[in-house]
This record gives sequence, C-alpha cells and structure tokens, in this order.
Amino acid sequence: MRYRALITALAVIAGVSFSAEKVILKKPPESLKKYYPPASKNYEFISAMHTMSTAFYGINLNINEGNWEGAKRWAQELKKTYLKVSKMVPEWKSYFKPQLADNLVKAVSSKNVDRVIGASKKLGQTCAKCHQDNEIAVKLVYHFPSFETIKIEDPVEFMEYKTGKYMEKLTNSMKALKIYLLQGEGDKAQEAGMNFVERARQLRSMCSKCHTNKLSEEVIVGKEFEKALNDLENLLSGDKPDRDRVFKLLGKVGASCTKCHNVHLIPQVVKEAFEK
Ligand code: HEC
Ligand code: HEC
Ligand code: HEC
Repeated sequence: MRYRALITALAVIAGVSFSAEKVILKKPPESLKKYYPPASKNYEFISAMHTMSTAFYGINLNINEGNWEGAKRWAQELKKTYLKVSKMVPEWKSYFKPQLADNLVKAVSSKNVDRVIGASKKLGQTCAKCHQDNEIAVKLVYHFPSFETIKIEDPVEFMEYKTGKYMEKLTNSMKALKIYLLQGEGDKAQEAGMNFVERARQLRSMCSKCHTNKLSEEVIVGKEFEKALNDLENLLSGDKPDRDRVFKLLGKVGASCTKCHNVHLIPQVVKEAFEK
C-alpha cells in the first residue's frame, strides 16, 4: 500500500496536466534561447528534464523492487541534474529549491518509504510550479515552426503575402461572394467567387514548406477539398448560380479551413504575440 502511495506521488510530477482556474502564457526568458535551435541543436534544457523525470522513476522502480542502493544512485543523479538545471536559466532561479533535492537523497538513504514520499512530493511541487507557469509557452515557442516566414503567391494579384495577410485576402473574397450573392449582384459574385476558388486552391502550396509527407496535405486540402472547389467553380461559371448550393459548397470548403486552423492557428497566434 505504501508503495502504491509512492507511485501516485511520483506520477503527478511527470506530464503536462494540471488543474487551474486560468492558464497564463508568459513569454519565455531570453536565456532559454541558447538551449534550442537555431542556437543549439542539442536541446540541453529539455534533455535535462528527461533525465530528472527518468531519475524520479528510477527511484520509484528500485524501491518497489527493494533495491535501495539503485534508488540512491538515481536520487543522486536527480539532485545533480536539478542543481545543473537551476543554473541554466537565471531568470528562473527562484523556482528551484536545491535543499529539497538534497532532502530526497537523504530520505532514500534512510530507506524510509514515508520519508521518500514526503521528500518526493516537496521536490515535485517545485517542478509542477514551473511547468504550470512556463511549459506550454515554451512548447509553443520552441517546438513549432513559425508561419511568419511562410509566403504565399497570390494568384489574383500576383504578389507574395505572408500567411496572415493572405488569409485576410482569401477570406475577403469569400465574404464578397456572399455579400454580392445576397444583394443579387450576379456578375460581381461570380468574380469574387472565382478569386476565392483560386486563392483557396493556392493554399496547398504552403504545406510543403514545412511538411515532406504528402499525406499531411491530403488529410486537409486533398481530394474532398479540391472537389468542393471544382464544384463551386462550375456552379459559378453558369448563369444565375443557385445561392443555397453555393453556401452549401462554401461549408464544405470551410471544413478544411477549420481543420487546418485547429492544428496550426493557436500555436501561431501565441508565437506571434511573443514575437511582437
Ligand atoms: C496551413 C493551414 C491553413 C489553411 C488550409 C487555412 N488557414 Fe487560415 N490561417 C492559418 C494560420 C496559421 C493562420 C494564422 C496566421 C497568422 O496569424 O499569422 C490563419 C489565419 C486565418 C484568419 C485570421 C487572419 C488574421 O490574421 O486576422 C482567417 C480569417 C483565416 N485564416 C481564414 C481561412 C479560410 C477562409 C481558409 C479556407 C478557405 C483558411 N483560412 C485555410 C492556417 C490555415
Ligand atoms: C524552472 C522551470 C522548471 C523546473 C523547476 C522544472 N521544469 Fe520540467 N520543464 C520546464 C519547461 C519549460 C519544460 C518544457 C520544455 C520543452 O518542451 O522544450 C519542461 C518539460 C518537462 C518535461 C516534459 C518533457 C517533454 O518531452 O515534453 C518533463 C518530464 C519535466 N519537465 C520534468 C521535470 C522534473 C521531474 C522536474 C523537477 C525535478 C522539472 N521538470 C522541473 C521547466 C521546468
Ligand atoms: C510553418 C510550418 C507548417 C506549415 C506551413 C504547415 N504545417 Fe502542418 N504542421 C506543422 C507542425 C509543426 C505540425 C505538428 C506535427 C509536427 O511537428 O510535424 C503540423 C501538423 C499537421 C498535421 C497533423 C500531423 C501530420 O503531420 O500530418 C496535418 C494534417 C497538417 N499539419 C496539415 C497541413 C496542411 C494541409 C498544410 C498546408 C495547407 C500545412 N499543414 C502547413 C507545421 C506546418
């Protein structure tokens, strides 16, 4: 039973999940930069995290098997890494309580399970506090490529635009199509609609700037998306396109916009906020 408690105490330390009334995203401190590309390809900060997390589990695993010596070696490894990490990002110094890492080594040395549980929890809380404040923002900033550098050639204006600007052009031609249709201005609706179709088709050109696997493109802007755009184009080419059918097809096209936004928009919005 006591070992079960130990496992539970240690389980809360690993992983991103936490409960909170609000989630705040703070801009990661400057000095973290040097542990991530392009400054470094070795991901020193996150590898130290993996080392600490593995060491925590090493203590747990060995105590459960009665191997206190093994557990002690992991506790020492944990302490050593914790001290190292505490010096990596000066702005985060106050999150670390080196004494608590030392207490854990002592608790394991004493071979007293209750002491180990207590010391683990206390140290684990220092991990959890920092994760709650910083982990999500760091993941968004350092593990996601930026759309800021992606340019898309506008097939209507023959200009290159950044993602945000291009999305605006694309959306405005879709809105214009709807507005003219509702106002009964057929010719203008047709022109805006054709612009929208061309701009939407062009979206696919951006995927390969990050993705090497065609499957990723196919999932969101593949055959179904193309078919909806072709149907829309055909419908708009005829005279007096059926308004309801146009709206229905726009819904189909829009499903792909939403899918892509669900995957890519939120990371990008957060990254951009920090870059400004
Ligand atoms: C790569 C997948 C992708 C696809 C497909 C896509 N978008 Fe976007 N969209 C984005 C990203 C990323 C942003 C955030 C851009 C930024 O803020 O720089 C965005 C932003 C937007 C915005 C907000 C623009 C702004 O900056 O205010 C609108 C509106 C929009 N998209 C409409 C659409 C529509 C309509 C479609 C479908 C016809 C579509 N998008 C398809 C990725 C996509
Ligand atoms: C001062 C802040 C801070 C402290 C203290 C801290 N961490 Fe982290 N930890 C982070 C950040 C930031 C990330 C996200 C890093 C990333 O995704 O590149 C992270 C990520 C992790 C991850 C997830 C790694 C992954 O691949 O997603 C684990 C596991 C982890 N930390 C374990 C620990 C343990 C165990 C402790 C305590 C002994 C600890 N951390 C203390 C900041 C901290
Ligand atoms: C700025 C870089 C970037 C661009 C441009 C981009 N993506 Fe992604 N996409 C990512 C990242 C990062 C992930 C998360 C998975 C990963 O790390 O590979 C992802 C994940 C995905 C996924 C789910 C996982 C997978 O790999 O299939 C799909 C589907 C996807 N993207 C489709 C698209 C489509 C379609 C486009 C073009 C319309 C596009 N992406 C444009 C960066 C990008």
